[in-house]
Amino acid sequence: MKIAIVYSSNTGNTKMLAETIKNALSDKDIAYFGKVNDGIPDSDLYIIGSWTNKGNASLDIQNFFK
Ligand SMILES: Cc1cc2nc3c(=O)[nH]c(=O)nc-3n(C[C@H](O)[C@H](O)[C@H](O)COP(=O)(O)O)c2cc1C
Repeated sequence: MKIAIVYSSNTGNTKMLAETIKNALSDKDIAYFGKVNDGIPDSDLYIIGSWTNKGNASLDIQNFFK
């Protein structure tokens, strides 16, 4: 299975959670780990995380969902 873990983090909390999830999965399943960019490969499963301000995800994560 190809898994993409995509996150946005200002102060490190979301990054820490993303790394914890990555460490719990098999390396061979991780197709991508990192911030939103144009090079994220098509994947079977996307694990997406963001910090929040007044209930909204960060703009880069909102755009990624679109
Ligand atoms: C200005 C500001 C607004 C926030 N608004 C919310 C909010 O509406 N809901 C919430 O659950 N957390 C809110 N938080 C808390 C952050 O989303 C939370 O600390 C988060 O873990 C930060 O993630 P990061 O460390 O990956 O950047 C806010 C924090 C700040 C500084």
